[in-house]
Amino acid sequence: MSNSRCRTAILISGSGSNLQSFIDQVADGRLDLDIAIVVSNRPDAFGLQRAANANVASVCIEHAAYPDRESFDRAIANTLDDYGVELVILAGFMRILSPWFVKQYEGRILNIHPALLPAHPGLNTHQRVLNAGDQWHGSTVHFVTDKLDGGPLILQGRLPVKPEQNAKDLAARVQAVEHQIYPEAAGLFADGGLRFHEGNAVLGGATLSEPLKRDFE
Ligand code: GRF
Repeated sequence: MSNSRCRTAILISGSGSNLQSFIDQVADGRLDLDIAIVVSNRPDAFGLQRAANANVASVCIEHAAYPDRESFDRAIANTLDDYGVELVILAGFMRILSPWFVKQYEGRILNIHPALLPAHPGLNTHQRVLNAGDQWHGSTVHFVTDKLDGGPLILQGRLPVKPEQNAKDLAARVQAVEHQIYPEAAGLFADGGLRFHEGNAVLGGATLSEPLKRDFE
């Protein structure tokens, strides 16, 4: 493993299917970065098992053990510093990061949100898409800023909503999209083409006025 590969932390709270897609794509050479450490805030997160199965280093830092958000975030940052982390991937990490942490890793934190932002920030996106009668749904990779689900958009995968679908079916289709677009976006950062500059996503030196888009069935 060369030292020049982007040292990446993946933060999880649960199943870790997105983590698995990173592990698989790194293993088969489609994604060129180094998963330096997996961090979970929950000891029972299945993603910890996925990391162990792949011989990827992992640590559990339980938020409940800290008196406030920032002291928890400082514990995470200490771990990331120990591993020389350059890129932070939020993959189903169900804690809101403090302004302190976001500043510390400014422009180096990515999140994936299961909707076509700026539509449907927040929770329960699949049901909200159905309730709204939207024709299109999908997922968005974005840089993390202090604004929840509000940082500059990088890459969206969209798919048509099928009328007969329920929220669970829709969630499964969106997750399959996520497993493609999240490693793709992280790869753009890892190879140096994608950066955060003055509040914008910049790709190959040009500001992205809208996210890159991929269509799925
Ligand atoms: C994903 O659907 C993502 O959009 C959201 O959390 C979910 C994580 O799923 N932020 P998993 O743990 O990667 O399976």
